[in-house]
Amino acid sequence: MTTYILEGKEVNIWSKELAYFHSRSVVDYVRDNLLKFEEIGVDPFSEIVGNDVEKELVKNALMSGSSIIFRGKKGYGKTTFAKAISKLLPEKILAVKGCKINDDPVNPVCFSCKKKVEDGVVELEWVKPKFVRICGDPMMTTRQLIGGISLQKLREGYDLDSPEVFTPGKILKANRGIAYVDELGAIPSALQTLLHELLEEKQVTTPEGDIVPMKIDVIFIASTNPANYKGVSDIKEPLLDRMEVVEIRPPDSLEKEIEIAIRNTNKWLRESVIMPEWHAKTLARVTILARNKETRLPEKIEVEPSCRATIKIFDHVMASAVRKGHRAVMISDYGCGGIYDFSNILLGLRGRMKLEFRDDKLEDVVNTLVNDALEITCSELFSIMQTEISRLASELGRRGEINVYEDFTEFEHLLPEAGKDSALEFMLETLARCVEVAERIGDGVYAYSTLD
Ligand SMILES: Nc1ncnc2c1ncn2[C@@H]1O[C@H](COP(=O)(O)OP(=O)(O)OP(=O)(O)O)[C@@H](O)[C@H]1O
Ligand SMILES: [Mg+2]
Repeated sequence: MTTYILEGKEVNIWSKELAYFHSRSVVDYVRDNLLKFEEIGVDPFSEIVGNDVEKELVKNALMSGSSIIFRGKKGYGKTTFAKAISKLLPEKILAVKGCKINDDPVNPVCFSCKKKVEDGVVELEWVKPKFVRICGDPMMTTRQLIGGISLQKLREGYDLDSPEVFTPGKILKANRGIAYVDELGAIPSALQTLLHELLEEKQVTTPEGDIVPMKIDVIFIASTNPANYKGVSDIKEPLLDRMEVVEIRPPDSLEKEIEIAIRNTNKWLRESVIMPEWHAKTLARVTILARNKETRLPEKIEVEPSCRATIKIFDHVMASAVRKGHRAVMISDYGCGGIYDFSNILLGLRGRMKLEFRDDKLEDVVNTLVNDALEITCSELFSIMQTEISRLASELGRRGEINVYEDFTEFEHLLPEAGKDSALEFMLETLARCVEVAERIGDGVYAYSTLD
């Protein structure tokens, strides 16, 4: 009989209070938690916008403890999805105290914990199951991924077959939790082969030293971006054959692109300044246009900007608004000077999109994208607010010039609640682009102009 000790006291590990927290597999806990979410009708992956079908597929795969690989281009939520799954891990489980791999106290797998059970006294502790993120790296070694012999311990005088000599690698550290390999294809193919055993038999073996196979209990999740890692070995077919492939695509609507951007922008900025709907739509449209194969630019764009670009564009534009003391984002926040300067948007896109031909200047492409996006949002506004915009046109004709920062109070009755100066500016911009009786002549300043 093994004696179990928790927080200094001997305990009955099979008592009602403790029995749930050991001797069960991580898949059992995840399934229980998933069913709890289903019962109350709450989405366990609420941090993921859209991907409704993919969420269902992931839930089904998790119910049977299948391994999952998210496949998709960079920046559309693969890592975010994997992290969201970790929410289904239990809050706490019982493990052998001090064990590097959170070993199960009744059926341990590591040599040192097995010995404790044999010796008859096992100290317990509460631990939070781990979500171990493993970055796919072409230089990764077996020792890093699975484990190996610690030379340090050998030097300290331990025998080669002593339990302390074995140092667990990242996969083993995920025991009773989730192992997430970011960019599985970047792992050397020899190591990928070692993973077959893990996926099929929930067991790992290291060729180093005299280590026998170890049973481990992990949910294995991975991601891959085939387009992004040219030159890196593909994921081996036998490995793919042992995983469920879930495709992750770009958001399929403007609303979702905006939702993702708003949720992920810097919290302080978000609380400090208003991002009006018309600017949110315009900025999100910039990346959507760059991605859309039917717009007039795409053949020039080799690497398309992802949601990360939209998020950063929102960040930079809001940062400018805060620094300039704007209550809401203004067109001048798109850049740092000049009547139509878009350098803050360029900052969010540079490095996140790549042009096909070197002589194409990114600045020019971004200027076209932003102007196209402004045009679309302005036409939309024009069709919704025709009456108000025509009244504004006659007022502009009467006075010759309007400064939105000073004059917005006079037009308050025409404007929506949030960010009145920003709203007036966008209406004038609409006059300039759709009716062409206004011209932007400075930051927030529009002059009457006749068609000639
Ligand atoms: N569908 C989505 N729902 C919520 N957030 C998203 C979505 N798509 C992208 N994001 C956001 O975009 C950013 C990038 O996402 P993430 O890091 O998960 O992408 P990835 O696919 O793992 O990219 P990479 O291939 O470069 O590793 C994160 O801030 C994430 O929150
Ligand atoms: Mg990622």
